[in-house]
Amino acid sequence: MMKPLKVNKARLWDSLMEMAKIGATEKGGCCRLALTDLDRQARDLYIQWAKEAGCSIRIDAVGNIMATRPGEDMSLAPVGTGSHLDTQPTGGKFDGVFGVLSGLEVVRSLNDHGIKTRHPVEISVWTNEEGSRFAPAMMGSGVVSGRFTLQEILDKTDVDGIRLGDELERIGYAGDTPVTGREYHAFFETHIEQGPYLEAEDKVIGVVTGGQGQRWYDVELTGQESHAGTTPMHLRTDALTCASSLILAVQAIAQQHKPGCGTVGFMQVMPNSRNTIPGKINLSVDLRHPDDAQLSAMDAELTKTVERLVAETGVQIHLKPIWYYAPIPFDKNCIEAVRGSAADLGYSHMDIIAGAGHDACYVSDFAPTSMVFTPCLNGISHNEIESTTAEECEAGCSVLLNAMLRMAEVVSADTDREEETLVLHRVGEL
Ligand code: HGY
Ligand code: MN
Ligand code: MN
Repeated sequence: MMKPLKVNKARLWDSLMEMAKIGATEKGGCCRLALTDLDRQARDLYIQWAKEAGCSIRIDAVGNIMATRPGEDMSLAPVGTGSHLDTQPTGGKFDGVFGVLSGLEVVRSLNDHGIKTRHPVEISVWTNEEGSRFAPAMMGSGVVSGRFTLQEILDKTDVDGIRLGDELERIGYAGDTPVTGREYHAFFETHIEQGPYLEAEDKVIGVVTGGQGQRWYDVELTGQESHAGTTPMHLRTDALTCASSLILAVQAIAQQHKPGCGTVGFMQVMPNSRNTIPGKINLSVDLRHPDDAQLSAMDAELTKTVERLVAETGVQIHLKPIWYYAPIPFDKNCIEAVRGSAADLGYSHMDIIAGAGHDACYVSDFAPTSMVFTPCLNGISHNEIESTTAEECEAGCSVLLNAMLRMAEVVSADTDREEETLVLHRVGEL
């Protein structure tokens, strides 16, 4: 085995910084909500770069973008990678984008070395991974994997009642490639960890063995609007104080089911006037756990809490489950491809379970899949201060490149370059 191939660190970093200008926020983050004009701008720029790198472009009916680098045998399923370009409202420069531009850097590096692979290589940009503007999350990959129907996703609306399918048309990304029949010989997603564990263990690479399960709910609390000055405390049906008890209960349920997580991130208060007792509250609940039985126990606890609060306060509570997926195990061979590539490259590495949801979780429904994680500063993400280094990006992307080469099978390469040598995985030489 010779020294494995590394990617071009500066080129990857420059692409990340260029893309980060689209939707750049004052505090150094990005706000590029799904299917907004800024999302379109990011998609357009990415397609321009992918075409310049020699990829052909397809767009499917839910707006997923597939950029394909030809392989020797185009009848074979591609080796895929990719992630998302949409961000949280106060997102960072790297969540999702790092995975998309790592795929692009893999293609650019293959071109640099004149590498021909037996399988095609394909980079995906998945629509609305974040689930912030349109809930739930991971919609583009969820439609392709069959977790959601295309129609139910096109009919989703945002908080202003704007329909997802109409936005897809408006930004010009309602494609004609079918969402069914997508295949990958293997799929890898590169992503920042978004948590503290790689940093705490002083590791550069996370070998992702699976993803924890999630349950999302919409909750509507209905009390009675009334005057803040004339309504005695014992005669109130205050939806907001009841919601406050529910929010604290979500936190307690998570703490009683470690390492589970519980979050209330979205809330609307009606009429939201300082001298009217709130009559109506809409809020979100997000529960997660790596063990499905524990996730079910958290769900049961939440239901019990709602029943108790209705009895105690007289506030009506409608708890509506809107999304669930069980914990997802990734593919052994793909996990080994990531682990072996990290070892070949000499990067410290550890196995890890993904705390966040990722498109790779849904791709694993129909293709062998794993992920490559890299650290982010203090484990902070979904925050404008999200930060990583060019070296950490280079490490993650180089592991991705070599893991993909293991699966795509190198047919030939210009190996006359002195400074670089290649780990040539010819057919059958794995
Ligand atoms: O919520 C998540 O885990 C992801 O960021 N969509
Ligand atoms: Mn992400
Ligand atoms: Mn995210």
